[in-house]
Amino acid sequence: MTVYLDNAATTAMAPEVLEAMWPVMHHCYGNPSSSHAIGRRSRVQVEQSRRSMAAQLNCHPSNLIFTSGGTEADNLALNAAVVDLGCERIITSEAEHSAVIKTAERWSDRAPVELALVKHLPDGRVDVAHLAELLAASDKKTLVSLMHANNEVGVMIDLLEVGTLCRAHGALFHSDTVQTMCHYRFDLQALPVDFITCAGHKFHGPKGVGFLYVAPGLKITSIIAGGGQERSMRGGTENVHSIVGLAKAMELAFSDLEHHQVHIRGLKQQMVAGLRARFKDVRFNADSDQEDRLYTVLNVSFPPHPKSGMALFLLDLEGVCCSSGSACSSGATLGSHVLRTLGFHDPERVSLRFSFGRYNTEAEVDRALEAVSRVFAGAAESAA
Ligand SMILES: Cc1ncc(COP(=O)(O)O)c(C=O)c1O
Repeated sequence: MTVYLDNAATTAMAPEVLEAMWPVMHHCYGNPSSSHAIGRRSRVQVEQSRRSMAAQLNCHPSNLIFTSGGTEADNLALNAAVVDLGCERIITSEAEHSAVIKTAERWSDRAPVELALVKHLPDGRVDVAHLAELLAASDKKTLVSLMHANNEVGVMIDLLEVGTLCRAHGALFHSDTVQTMCHYRFDLQALPVDFITCAGHKFHGPKGVGFLYVAPGLKITSIIAGGGQERSMRGGTENVHSIVGLAKAMELAFSDLEHHQVHIRGLKQQMVAGLRARFKDVRFNADSDQEDRLYTVLNVSFPPHPKSGMALFLLDLEGVCCSSGSACSSGATLGSHVLRTLGFHDPERVSLRFSFGRYNTEAEVDRALEAVSRVFAGAAESAA
């Protein structure tokens, strides 16, 4: 039986989400922009979903723009900051998801947008003092884009702290909240953020749908030329059934969030304890075993072992799905850009990310630990 511990990559859809989507696919086939009854039926589904999510996040429904997911939402935010809101400078980090860092680099290739990269502390967290220095160093209108939680190692920023700093310097603040949306609560009236992003497939919703939150008063234009959907901020016929699924996934997540957090923290602690018991020299990159890191993600650096390069493949054969902090290509370990940026890349050691979701069980974690022991057999001695 397969043990799926790659929930930071994507999650299984909740049965309740599928149940909510099916009748919409069946009966709400109208185009939400059509004025007739069948079209209006679809419009109702889209707007009810938007209202339901806005209520959960304490924002106005008009502040949520549906997108095809996290990548598009990140692109839309950075584009809006430069094209519509006059930002001439982007402060971000090389440890961001490629949806942010590549978009920022693309803009910096197009003068006059300047790119400034914030440093990280030795434990992987963003160096907020350096961010403050960068903000103070220029009068140019600036966008700060820093993710709430890193998808590979789970280091987090304090949205209130960073947002307040940005406000004090007149900078706009975008945070990629793809890994934290629906795993933490958000009060968007209280948080000083201008843009945050969401992808439904990270919390048991459908793939290919998400949203960008845009703070009140910010006027942005679409990056997709087309119809006037989403109040002209995102062209294209709305993905009605997926939007309904997204709203259902959020409702489910927030309905038992505290229980979900306790359950997953427990599984992660079980994994940490099991790994420590089995390997003398196991390490947790960026202290991903610590309480203040993203509770769904554990990034493990295994002791040197002859089979390290094959570990992901061997675990897959054992029925354990996780992901690698490094990519192996023709025998060459390339390494993840996050581990390199944060200083945790070690060519002698393989790093694997285990990420937990609501359907994982303690028995599955035990099975994963047994599989890991078989793959890295002898590593305990070799590390001594
Ligand atoms: C932090 C982060 N941002 C953005 C994305 C991209 O989201 P999507 O797959 O919905 O485009 C991901 C997904 O892996 C992510 O983990």
